[in-house]
Amino acid sequence: MGRAIYLDHNAANPPDPRVLEVFRRALDAGWANPSSAHRAGRRARALVEEAREQVAALLGVAAGQVTFCASGTEALNQALVSATRPGERPRAVASAVEHPAVLEPLRALDAEGRVEAVLAPVDAAGRVVVDRLAPLAAGAALVAVIAAQNETGVVQPLDAVGQVCAAAGAPLLVDASQALGRVARDWTHAPWDLLVVSGHKLRAPRGAAALVHRGGVAPGPLVRGGPQELGRRAGTEDVAAIAALGAACDLVRRGELLDPAALRELRDRLEARLLEAIPGAEVVGQGVERLPQTTAVLLPGGDSEALLAALDLAGVAASAGAACSSGSLVRSHVLEAMGVDEARARGRLRLSFGPETTWEELAAAVDALAALRRQGA
Ligand SMILES: Cc1ncc(COP(=O)(O)O)c(C=O)c1O
Repeated sequence: MGRAIYLDHNAANPPDPRVLEVFRRALDAGWANPSSAHRAGRRARALVEEAREQVAALLGVAAGQVTFCASGTEALNQALVSATRPGERPRAVASAVEHPAVLEPLRALDAEGRVEAVLAPVDAAGRVVVDRLAPLAAGAALVAVIAAQNETGVVQPLDAVGQVCAAAGAPLLVDASQALGRVARDWTHAPWDLLVVSGHKLRAPRGAAALVHRGGVAPGPLVRGGPQELGRRAGTEDVAAIAALGAACDLVRRGELLDPAALRELRDRLEARLLEAIPGAEVVGQGVERLPQTTAVLLPGGDSEALLAALDLAGVAASAGAACSSGSLVRSHVLEAMGVDEARARGRLRLSFGPETTWEELAAAVDALAALRRQGA
């Protein structure tokens, strides 16, 4: 079998070689504890602070508004916990299509009586229904809206959401893990009060993420201990992962990490071929703005789990979109929120790719899928 065709970039994308080079150099030069006052420590500190400047520059904030942590999940948990107020039970609103890294902590905070969690509905295309968000946002301590959905790639109407939140005086938490770098937009002018970026979705290795704040909504600590990260996140920083995240953000700011227009062209060709090769196939969110390198498709009568295993054997790495628990497919809360019934949702497949993916690979993946379907998979 030749090289596997990797179409699971939304789970983790291969690091950009330029970012990997920064990572390797930082492993070498930044191994010391960045809180140490000696020269080796100062060298490590300089790498962390350079990365902080790079993230801040991309998002148009001061360096002190960037808090590094270990993962997007941690950053989102921190943002949510920060919205709780002891003795009160403020409302916290999340779109029904948030990542579990938002929905699960929100559920737990609600169960503990620390917030009143409310889900904002989405339409059939997976976009937040802005008119229905408005009454929920009024008086809320936080509104969480994912910039681009990881399972479907659907991009939320962030400007309209921002207007609603501003009118309601509710801080807006934007999970930009999938969107940053892929959606061509100026994040310095996008509406958000808290924004999360995760390294391994941004062509950097795993190990670092950032929670960025502005507009007076400074997050409190989730992980407590030493005074790192201005007291907002204790623990010795992962210098190399942070340096890599900074480098990736710098490439995004300069428009050099990837080319969304080129990716979109490939995606459109992929979808045209898919729809032609597989009768009855349906692209999720077709007609609304989506990530340029993500195609979620429903295959009538299909069974994701079996298809993914067969595709893997055929050398194609794809995904159902949602997390798997011990190898078995869990229901997709995202498709459910969009009104897709369980039978149709069972046939879901997500193909997500990146700048190194060729048209030949995408075409070969569709051909493999079509062949499997003809065999009854
Ligand atoms: C939209 C979105 N948010 C948050 C996360 C969690 O990020 P991490 O894997 O860095 O914890 C993911 C990862 O799949 C994601 O796709």
